[in-house]
Amino acid sequence: MSGLFVTGTDTGVGKTVFAALLVRWLRRRGVDAVPMKAVQSGAAAEDPAGDAARLLRAAGVTVPKEALVPYAFRAPLAPAVAADKAGVRVELGRILAAYQALRRRHRHVVVEGAGGLMVPIAGDILIVDLMERLGLPAVVVARSGLGTVNHTLLSLHLLRARGIPVVGVVLNDGPHGEPDPSAEDNPRLIERLGGVPVLGRLRTVPEGPKPDAPRMPSGAPPDRATEEAFGEAERTLREAEAAFDEAALAMLEAEVDLSAIVRALEGREGR
Ligand SMILES: Nc1ncnc2c1ncn2[C@@H]1O[C@H](COP(=O)(O)OP(=O)(O)O)[C@@H](O)[C@H]1O
Ligand SMILES: [Mg+2]
Repeated sequence: MSGLFVTGTDTGVGKTVFAALLVRWLRRRGVDAVPMKAVQSGAAAEDPAGDAARLLRAAGVTVPKEALVPYAFRAPLAPAVAADKAGVRVELGRILAAYQALRRRHRHVVVEGAGGLMVPIAGDILIVDLMERLGLPAVVVARSGLGTVNHTLLSLHLLRARGIPVVGVVLNDGPHGEPDPSAEDNPRLIERLGGVPVLGRLRTVPEGPKPDAPRMPSGAPPDRATEEAFGEAERTLREAEAAFDEAALAMLEAEVDLSAIVRALEGREGR
C-alpha cells in the first residue's frame, strides 16, 4: 500500500494536526511522504489558513497545488454544497488522478478527507465513496471524551461494511483540554466494541496566539498584493506554529503506535 487516508468522526477533531505531524515524522526519518487534502472547503487552495497550506507548513515540503488539493472552495460548507454554489462539478476522477500524480513521485501519500465519512463531496457521493475508490487503509481520528464511543463505532461500522481496512483509531483531547472522566475508559470500549486498535491518545498541546491569515478575495487568481500578503501570512503562521508542531510531534512519538501505521504504509499488514 502506498498511502493512508486520515478520516475522522467529525470536523475539528484533529485530522489536519495528525496528518501533518505524521508526514513530518515520516520525513524526519528520511521517508518520502507527502500530504494531500482530497477536497477543501472554507478556504481557497492558496489560503494560508486552509488545511492544505497547514499540511505543507507542518510537513515541511512543497507539493504542486493541483495535486495537493484538487478542489478547494472558499465557502465554509460541505464540499458538495460549496461546489454547487461555486458552479463546479466535483469529479472523483480528478481527485484520484491527483493522488496518482503524487504517488508517482513520492513513496507515501497521506490523504486528509473533509469532515467525517458521510460528508457529501459531489451530489450524493460521500467521503467514504472516495475512500473506497482510493483503496487506502484508514486511520480514524476521534475526540477522546464523552460521545466519542458512539461516533467512533458508527464510523468503524461503515468502514467495515465498505471493506475499508482500518489501521486504528487515534483519540485526541483537542485544543481545550478540559478534564473528561470518560476518556480513561473510551480506548478500551472502542477496542472491544469496534474491533480495531486504539493507536494512542493525543493530549492538548498549548497553542500560541494564531495571527489572522488573509483570505483569498473573490475573483481569483490572486494579484501581486494578495500573493505578497499570503507570503507574509505564511511566514508569520509558520513561526507561530513552530513550537506547537515540535511539542505535538514529541507527543505523537511518545503516545501513538506509529509502528502500526508504518506497517500499513509498507503493506506488511496482511489483508
Ligand atoms: N491535541 C491538540 N492540542 C491542541 N490543539 C489541537 C489539538 N488537536 C487539534 N488542535 C487544534 O484544534 C483545531 C482543529 O484541529 P484540526 O486538526 O484542524 O481538525 P480537523 O482537521 O479534523 O478539522 C485546530 O486549531 C488545531 O490546531
Ligand atoms: Mg482538517
